[in-house]
Amino acid sequence: MAALKAFLGFYTSPMDTASRILRKYGNAVSITLPFFGKKPLPDAFIFFGAENNRQVYAKWDDLRMTALWPISAKPDTVQQRIRHNYMCLSGRTHRDIANQIEAPLNRGQIKKLSVEMYAIMKPVIDKAFTEDTFDLVKFHKDLSIQCIFNLLFGEPDAERALRIGHMVDELNLSNYVKANRILKLDIPGLPFHDLLRQAEAVKEELTRWIGEVEGLPANTNLRTSVLNMTDSDGQAFSFDFTIGCLGSMVWAAIDTPSLGSLWTTVHLSRHPEIAEKLRDELKAAGFSEKTSTEELNKLPYLNGVVLEGLRLSPPGAFIPLKSVRDTVIGSVKIPANTAIYLCPRETQRDPAIYPDPEVFRPERWAGIQSPDAYEFIAFSGGVRRCPGASFATIYMKMVIAMLVERGGLELLTRGPIPVRSAPAMEPLKPVMARPSASGHFC
Ligand code: HEM
Repeated sequence: MAALKAFLGFYTSPMDTASRILRKYGNAVSITLPFFGKKPLPDAFIFFGAENNRQVYAKWDDLRMTALWPISAKPDTVQQRIRHNYMCLSGRTHRDIANQIEAPLNRGQIKKLSVEMYAIMKPVIDKAFTEDTFDLVKFHKDLSIQCIFNLLFGEPDAERALRIGHMVDELNLSNYVKANRILKLDIPGLPFHDLLRQAEAVKEELTRWIGEVEGLPANTNLRTSVLNMTDSDGQAFSFDFTIGCLGSMVWAAIDTPSLGSLWTTVHLSRHPEIAEKLRDELKAAGFSEKTSTEELNKLPYLNGVVLEGLRLSPPGAFIPLKSVRDTVIGSVKIPANTAIYLCPRETQRDPAIYPDPEVFRPERWAGIQSPDAYEFIAFSGGVRRCPGASFATIYMKMVIAMLVERGGLELLTRGPIPVRSAPAMEPLKPVMARPSASGHFC
């Protein structure tokens, strides 16, 4: 019964359920569902804490990510054909592909982008400050779509970027509508029907979009990297696999940085004194005249604010994995095809590593530019570490610095913000804000 409760809890209230399981059962937990299991084998393992993370990262070749878009459908549907992508592979095949998309995201490349990033963000942020009230979730999503499509995917047309970005985001969200797991009927009016049509529309749009970069060198941007991806023998992938990779790459690139920035903005509104301290740092450094990556990385308090936002509110509160063969993690035997969850949010609230873990305290990062690989896993780790981590960190530093410098925001949504895991932690409802009359965060 406890297993069933935990299982259902992950759907209804994922973060509370994870905390409860950790408090009650410890830091390595197996869940067996007697109602559904034919054999007495666990259906899932949940690992908490730095030491377990280390053990899991040591076994990456035995693991893969679960499909980003979990709703299976009939084999002839577009949804089924594009929902798998290279992130669901493991071992050498996965690494070979990961290497092929690395170039547009490497540190040297990212360094050159920050001044351009400032120029793209400025009009979008200025416009928000002319609004009476606005939804902070939509603001951050629109900002990341316009900025990231331009800088990483080579799409400077903001209207087009917004259209494609929102189409992919909506398809992603439909993949986390609970009814779609059980009621798989292609009947107008049902969410599953909408999901199938969204997948078709996304494929059509992405097919046009990727076709436009044909002939360009593979490392021009992420769109060209995906178009030119090959398997370990140099063979091109099926077109559906390529479109699946592009769709999931678009989602990974826009959703997590926007949610990371959203949650950090919310923390600043709840801690105006921290926003003021950050503003002092930006003023002293002459931030608006110095927006290069080097200058941003010289600001320790800004670094602390961004790391603290990602520590307390990592966009991916869970990292969902699957064993591809029988394996052993620590002393735990894990059969092939078993779900395994890592929990960045709980790891990053471990009081043994982070004293007063619930407190938003950027000062705890003083002198630390890069956190420990097992104690801080917001970007995952090992060979599966997020390839967009350097870009995302600069992106978040820029957004937060610009919002603080531009004038404060007043958060109108008070109290706890309910979330869903889709698979990033996304507010269930709009989070309303307005430019603060005092010019300070509140
Ligand atoms: C704050 C922002 C971000 C966070 C918190 C984040 C977090 C993560 C996490 C937890 C994973 C899972 C890795 C695994 O265990 O397999 C991941 C994978 C990935 N992320 Fe990010 N990410 C962010 C931004 C980005 C950006 C800007 C991109 C740009 C393209 C990106 C692209 C990817 C890709 C392609 C993967 C799959 C990697 C693989 O399977 O080898 N991410 N990210």
